[in-house]
Amino acid sequence: MERLNKYIASCGICSRRKADELISKGKVTINDKVVKDMGRQVNIEDIVKIDGKIITKEEKKVYIMLNKPKGYVTTSHDQFNRKSVVDLIDEDVRVYPIGRLDMYTEGLLLLTNDGEFSNKIMHPHNKIEKTYIVTTDTKISQEQIESLKRGVDIGGYITKPAKVKITKNNTLEIIISEGKNRQVRKMCEVVGINLLNLRRIKIGNIKLGNLQSGKYRYLTKEEKENVI
Ligand code: URA
Repeated sequence: MERLNKYIASCGICSRRKADELISKGKVTINDKVVKDMGRQVNIEDIVKIDGKIITKEEKKVYIMLNKPKGYVTTSHDQFNRKSVVDLIDEDVRVYPIGRLDMYTEGLLLLTNDGEFSNKIMHPHNKIEKTYIVTTDTKISQEQIESLKRGVDIGGYITKPAKVKITKNNTLEIIISEGKNRQVRKMCEVVGINLLNLRRIKIGNIKLGNLQSGKYRYLTKEEKENVI
């Protein structure tokens, strides 16, 4: 909620003083009723018109990377009332996650209010690579790696070729360009790798780096422009 004159000014129409003038002249309506009270509060669902024309706030575009902690869901309304990643973001505008990470997966999650940017990243045609780190207590064989690379049947769907390598003892890096539900977990299960922890560290050219768990930051201009 904000005062009507401030709302008009923040829509970029005019200054607050000029807004007061328009209001006192009876040129402003809220939900089609003329309002002459400059201090009248405006709600998000109110329709404000000046001279019969609807005015709206020019929404600033926000691009965020979050290091998602385990235990958070990526939907904003959860039927079981579980904690949501959007509760970790303190912004004036509403942002939503680009794609999903399951509740027990941690790491890089992008959020935005820019539909075009979101589509660019999500569109299967763009085949954006996503890099995951799997921690396991299974001694991984070359055969398991080769199967994951070739593609495995995760319940009626054969995964596309992936890039897979052992990075350290008990740690596997898997890069996929698709995003079926719980895909990495299912891939590991199918080949008999016991997944202890799953973390996403990269989307396209955007790296998580050393951002702390539960913290977020804005993407740089370069990250935003060169994501693919
Ligand atoms: N694969 C998974 O299993 N979970 C995710 O959250 C993302 C990819």
